Amino acid sequence: MGAAQCLPAATEPPPLQSLQLRLAQALGAAVGVACRDVDGDPDLLWPSERTSIQKAVATRQREYAAGRGAAREAMRQIGCAPACIPSAPDRSPVWPAGLAGSIAHGGGVCVAVVGRRHHVHAVGIDVEKDLPMEPALWPSLCTADELACVEQLPPHERGRQVTWLFCAKEAFYKWQYPQTGRMLDFRDVRVAFSDDATHFDVQAASAHNPVPRCSRLGGLITTHGLALAWMVGPPAPAS
Ligand SMILES: CC(C)(COP(=O)(O)OP(=O)(O)OC[C@H]1O[C@@H](n2cnc3c(N)ncnc32)[C@H](O)[C@@H]1OP(=O)(O)O)[C@@H](O)C(=O)NCCC(=O)NCCS
Repeated sequence: MGAAQCLPAATEPPPLQSLQLRLAQALGAAVGVACRDVDGDPDLLWPSERTSIQKAVATRQREYAAGRGAAREAMRQIGCAPACIPSAPDRSPVWPAGLAGSIAHGGGVCVAVVGRRHHVHAVGIDVEKDLPMEPALWPSLCTADELACVEQLPPHERGRQVTWLFCAKEAFYKWQYPQTGRMLDFRDVRVAFSDDATHFDVQAASAHNPVPRCSRLGGLITTHGLALAWMVGPPAPAS
């Protein structure tokens, strides 16, 4: 093969940029989206952010810095001035007044999404390597109903399906937490994917443990070796 054939096409964006474009297309213009390498620069943190992370190991400080950098880029995209995003004692990010956002790290990348609260109400995002989940973990991540659906798939598809369920539940958790302040176990909710697995709904697994209703708010893409799930929008009114 000649050297020219080894080079990517001149118009092909670098992977992080193309991931960001793909996600931005999926999420729509009301949401700022930024993807960064997970190896951020802690020197760029704002003072109270640095205080939040000062006792962490260096790799965690870099991951945290990447998230803050991505979040400020997402804020810029929706016309907001850069601002500090400290962490609450429970580790959740404290967004500037009027904004709703979410940060995730995984598979070597960091992703942040931010919207104006009056447009999006709430957002949650997660990113995972798009690899099969270890079967020993399935029972702790899936409800009995979900496990039954997974068992109906061809064996080679099951592990990735559980990774997508996990990713969807983490995005749901980050979406619901700022609204409810509630900790949830993975088996407290049940995820149902659309046939093409690009959208999902989340429901309470039992009537004794209600969660905000969120029909048609969840999305999933698998690209660049990653699974990315998000939830954007207000909870559905109770019927
Ligand atoms: C909060 C949690 C979802 C984060 O997941 P993680 O795998 O550790 O890491 P991720 O990279 O996906 O996300 C980390 C980011 O989530 C954000 N985050 C942390 N706690 C949060 C919360 N309570 N609500 C919203 N966002 C939160 C932070 O921005 C954090 O990054 P930062 O510390 O650099 O700012 C996870 O640690 C957790 O506690 N899960 C609870 C159990 C659960 O997920 N249940 C799902 C059932 S529905």
